[in-house]
Amino acid sequence: VLWRLFAACLLASQDQKCLSKTVQPCGWLCAHKAETANSLFGMGNPLLDISAVVDKDFLDKYSLKPNDQILAEDKHKALFDELVKKFKVEYHAGGATQNSIKIAQWMIQEPHNVGTFFGCIGKDKFGEILKQKAKETHVDAHYYEQDEEPTGTCAACITGDNRSLVANLAAANCYKKEKHLDLEENWKLVEKARVYYIAGFFLTVSVESILKVAKHASENNKLFCMNLSAPFICQFFKDSLMQVMPYIDVLFGNETEATAFAKEQDFETEDIQEIAKKAQALPKVNKKRQRIVVFTQGKDDTVMGDKIETFPVLKIDPKDIVDTNGAGDAFVGGFLSGLVQEKPLDQCVKAAHYSANVIIRRAGCTFPEKPDFK
Ligand SMILES: Nc1ncnc2c1ncn2[C@@H]1O[C@H](COP(=O)(O)OP(=O)(O)OP(=O)(O)O)[C@@H](O)[C@H]1O
Ligand SMILES: *[C@@H]1O[C@H](CO)[C@@H](O)[C@H](O)[C@H]1NC(C)=O
Ligand SMILES: *[C@@H]1O[C@H](CO)[C@@H](O)[C@H](O)[C@H]1NC(C)=O
Ligand SMILES: *[C@@H]1O[C@H](CO)[C@@H](O)[C@H](O)[C@H]1NC(C)=O
Repeated sequence: VLWRLFAACLLASQDQKCLSKTVQPCGWLCAHKAETANSLFGMGNPLLDISAVVDKDFLDKYSLKPNDQILAEDKHKALFDELVKKFKVEYHAGGATQNSIKIAQWMIQEPHNVGTFFGCIGKDKFGEILKQKAKETHVDAHYYEQDEEPTGTCAACITGDNRSLVANLAAANCYKKEKHLDLEENWKLVEKARVYYIAGFFLTVSVESILKVAKHASENNKLFCMNLSAPFICQFFKDSLMQVMPYIDVLFGNETEATAFAKEQDFETEDIQEIAKKAQALPKVNKKRQRIVVFTQGKDDTVMGDKIETFPVLKIDPKDIVDTNGAGDAFVGGFLSGLVQEKPLDQCVKAAHYSANVIIRRAGCTFPEKPDFK
């Protein structure tokens, strides 16, 4: 077995790093030449998650429903500072794409910095905390820091089992290709990656950045992955989405998003498997890879693959479900960890179901120290 590994290693890579790994006990890594720093690239809206147990007065003051997800309006601007002043808060590095990269890194564990993340933040206190929090997750975050808008935040106002989320994109909306992605040291990190992931939300921020990364992936036969992210993306950012679609190798979405997408594309079906087939058949630039469509359906089977098969999720007793927020992000993170380790698709989906199952047992998008997944 060792010899076979060694031979595979020689074939797979000529580089010294890999050779030196084979003589060490961790030589197994060579079978997955994948697990090197910066091999997974993500770009999106970085948010500092601020969560606290609050009281009803606080919800009322900002007219928040106990269970909701909204974008901050002017009347919420003071909410974030007040939350920090009045309550005991917890901070986490957040935002959909950053969460997924974080979870992929957690699934992989070693080495650190397998995941790279780009996004825009402000030069402020929340930005400093976000940088620190990202570092703690061992993701190699390189933020474009500007001083016109403050760092994006997402407040989780918890009352009992309820949580009211208020997101303020702020600086996240200000990512600029020429100010960050195009810079040589940043672009080098993009080139180092072999798997790319950008949530559909980023279509509202910088389509040209997405296209630059997508084209690079396609031209070099690397994997470009995207997420439909929300019905409004399929609807109101349809043109941008369809500009990027020909470069998408792996398309994620949940059933609601899939249905919204199908409606916009006049697929004339609401059947998730039929929608997956039609999305898979949409024009594609890199002909060396067939598109893979992955649609989740909450507690129901995930739909995926060349032949569009279904894969059951991990069973969970409903009373063990604490908070399904972030289930989708976690699913994607687990899946990406499999892709970057060059595991077969059925293993990627298993990893995805595992990480989603871990996250829904916990409040927010948090996880224990180590995964228990092989
Ligand atoms: N009720 C549930 N029982 C078991 N697994 C679940 C349940 N809800 C979510 N999951 C897990 O999480 C994955 C993603 O769930 P879902 O399709 O609900 O994503 P989502 O709606 O995008 O989540 P969110 O937007 O809340 O992050 C599922 O494929 C499954 O593995
Ligand atoms: C949680 O919200 C529901 C309604 O969404 C409400 O009935 C319940 O009382 C709330 N619980 C707490 C502790 O606020
Ligand atoms: C799918 O995600 C959307 C957000 O894009 C959410 O509103 C919806 O409830 C989710 N659907 C299911 C079935 O979980
Ligand atoms: C991304 O994809 C997952 C899994 O298919 C889905 O559940 C989720 O709602 C999507 N959205 C985001 C923002 O990750």
